[in-house]
Amino acid sequence: MVCDHERVTSRWIRVAPLLSLTAVAALAVACGEERTATSSLPPDSEISAGQRVSLSSGCSACHGPNGEGGMGPKWTGLFGSQVTLADGSTVTADEAYLTLAIKDPSAQKVKGYSVMPPNRLTDADVQALVDYIKSL
Ligand code: HEC
Repeated sequence: MVCDHERVTSRWIRVAPLLSLTAVAALAVACGEERTATSSLPPDSEISAGQRVSLSSGCSACHGPNGEGGMGPKWTGLFGSQVTLADGSTVTADEAYLTLAIKDPSAQKVKGYSVMPPNRLTDADVQALVDYIKSL
């Protein structure tokens, strides 16, 4: 019995690193799929620069491929509207607000939503996104 138990244990010791290798492989596959999705974006003529950044930077996962919203607030009709923040105050969604919302997501939180992860977008990408959101 004791021997049996030892055999089982030593087998697990051999299998455990294999399992974590499998996990790493699965991650690599997932990342590869993301890259494929990015490279199969519609051509420039069909989507704006801002929508392209949204799709390639993962914004669309929460705000919708066309800004229709989801886990994050919708972008359609957002520009110029009144946004109620978590502290109960209201702000107008102007260019400065949108820029800050993207550059520093934790600065002002929209009421009723969870958190938005930070990003490392360039100023040019942020401006393209703001222009895109304004157009929706
Ligand atoms: C994991 C989901 C998620 C991702 C990815 C994400 N956001 Fe958000 N976003 C949110 C949530 C949740 C909020 C509302 C809470 C807050 O204000 O932080 C929000 C708020 C916003 C707002 C303010 C909206 C409003 O109604 O006032 C803007 C603008 C915005 N996000 C832009 C972006 C851009 C651009 C990207 C891509 C770089 C992005 N978000 C990526 C979840 C996300």
